[in-house]
Amino acid sequence: MTAKSVLVTGGAGYIGTHTMVELLASGYDVVCLDNFSNSSPEAIKRVEKIAGKRVTTVIGDVRDREVMSRVFKRPIDGVIHFAALKAVGESVARPVDYYGNNVGGTLALLDAMHERKVQRVVFSSSATVYGIPDKLPIAEDAAVRPVNPYGHTKAMVEQILRDWCDARAEHAAVSLRYFNPIGAHPSGAIGEDPHDVPNNLFPFITQVAVGKLDKLTVWGNDWPTLDGTGVRDYLHVMDLARGHVTALEYTFAHTGCATVNLGTGRATSVLQMIAAFEAASGKKIPYVIGPRRTGDIAACWANPSLAQQLLGWQAKQSIEQACADGWRWQQSNPNGYRS
Ligand code: NAD
Ligand code: WQD
Repeated sequence: MTAKSVLVTGGAGYIGTHTMVELLASGYDVVCLDNFSNSSPEAIKRVEKIAGKRVTTVIGDVRDREVMSRVFKRPIDGVIHFAALKAVGESVARPVDYYGNNVGGTLALLDAMHERKVQRVVFSSSATVYGIPDKLPIAEDAAVRPVNPYGHTKAMVEQILRDWCDARAEHAAVSLRYFNPIGAHPSGAIGEDPHDVPNNLFPFITQVAVGKLDKLTVWGNDWPTLDGTGVRDYLHVMDLARGHVTALEYTFAHTGCATVNLGTGRATSVLQMIAAFEAASGKKIPYVIGPRRTGDIAACWANPSLAQQLLGWQAKQSIEQACADGWRWQQSNPNGYRS
């Protein structure tokens, strides 16, 4: 039987690379479209090495009609859409870029899909759409109340996909609301490679551990949480990658639009993450306590039960495993793919 072919937009990025490894391992042919605005072609070479299979790579912007018509000249059975800008603070400073790329890019993709009658898509949404939760854990029926332009772009695309599915009975879409992905492929060959000083906790910790940064600032220890520091739901990026494969398979077996949390249901504080990383890496993480970060929330973790019911997916890997895998990546690649 001919292998199904999947277009992965933004496939050279952090989550895209890990998902492409899982797609190749599951027997899919993979076409990666990426403009390398926040990634490197080296990442794709590493994916191919891990998988022992080739990836068809098209370099270009998802908003470029010529590029997209070239992409869809080949048979594509489904799409996983990662391509986006994703920094919350940057989205406040550059909202038009975020709406143009994240919303405009999705509309351009759906246009190109329409021309070639490609009818299924998995979309990278984010728990950011929930804003400040009323109650914890957060289930998919919680209020969608984004508090920054980035979160608004994700909520808008979720609505676009609901309307897209309502328009044609044969359309299938799954929007995945990720919580906090961390870690790396166990080989240490691919991982998170922020281009500037990391905003996110985990890559900041790994860069302190490898000596690129001298200390961590813990943004506030006066939150109403177990130890006063921020609490999040950290999930291993390999679990997340597998979640995308199950979501894609779901679109082959169902039509309509589903919106699903991908999280562990586990709440971990900043201090607990520091302790877990120190235990996994054997490296001390020096830190100071700083003020709360603007726009931060105290706590956020998932009710992951719908993913289990609908997709048969649940997170399997521990925080400790993610710390060990993330450290292996950073230790072997102190300057990311530029190493
Ligand atoms: P990333 O920046 O590592 O990957 C995004 C990839 O998309 C990059 O390779 C970039 O070059 C590419 N890209 C961006 N705009 C493009 C365009 N217009 N055309 C073609 N390629 C383009 O980010 P990531 O962490 O892998 O996130 C992937 C997706 O998951 C994003 O949509 C992000 O919003 C979402 N997400 C990420 C997190 C997280 O914490 N990393 C959490 C929730 C949701
Ligand atoms: C986690 C915790 C910080 C850095 C962000 C985006 C979200 C999604 C995931 C894209 C918080 C604390 C952090 C540091 C710290 N990305 N922290 N010192 O803010 O939960 O989510 O990434 O979709 O949209 O908002 O993740 O890793 O930035 O912070 O104390 O140097 O670590 O206060 O409690 P966040 P994060």
